[in-house]
Amino acid sequence: MVNPMTYLTLGLFLLACRYNHHVMAEDPDPLQDFCVADEKSKIFVNGFVCKNPKKVSADDFFFRGLGQPGDTNNAVGSNVTAANVMQIPGLNTLGISLVRIDFAVDGINPPHTHPRATEILVLLEGELFVGFVDTNNKLFSKKLEKGDVFVFPKALVHFQQNVGKENAVVISGLSSQFPGVQTIANSLFGAKPPLPDNVLSKAFRISSKLVDSIQAKFD
Ligand SMILES: *[C@@H]1O[C@H](CO)[C@@H](O)[C@H](O)[C@H]1NC(C)=O
Repeated sequence: MVNPMTYLTLGLFLLACRYNHHVMAEDPDPLQDFCVADEKSKIFVNGFVCKNPKKVSADDFFFRGLGQPGDTNNAVGSNVTAANVMQIPGLNTLGISLVRIDFAVDGINPPHTHPRATEILVLLEGELFVGFVDTNNKLFSKKLEKGDVFVFPKALVHFQQNVGKENAVVISGLSSQFPGVQTIANSLFGAKPPLPDNVLSKAFRISSKLVDSIQAKFD
């Protein structure tokens, strides 16, 4: 099981994220103690409309959902369990959220970006190879062991790969109530309606037959 030091470390990182908020604003700053998302409101704003503060309770800030591993029996061998404003309405306007990611042996969390968040990951169990690519296409990568931490700067393409002999599990803090995710392969080869064949064949310098066969895997 996870030892208390891990939780302490995680807590300190999340705190650090909050203090940086004023310097590097991510989601908008709150103008009151809290603005719990009113999931029933029909009004569309940036984020969610606040629920009547008199009707707010501790449950709005609570989620019992990261204790169980996600099912990694899928094409990539990983599973992301989110704890963002969709699960915890009290996160609305607070600019922070968590995910748990489980990895089967040889599993990957494929290259993806979070358009609205920097991510700070702590490896709780297993061994991972992780990295991100900057806008000059330079790869920053590292092999992580239990307790190690790695940062993926906002919006940059990144990935994680289980390189150990056991399952791996991480917790990540993200600097948005709803970080968003675009998985590169799925966005390009699994888009609906599909991107034109000649866009993908020229971009990847491959035949349109190969484009079709990759697209077929994302249906
Ligand atoms: C992730 O795990 C959950 C819980 O086991 C499961 O419902 C979901 O289908 C899994 N997602 C993927 C992509 O495998």
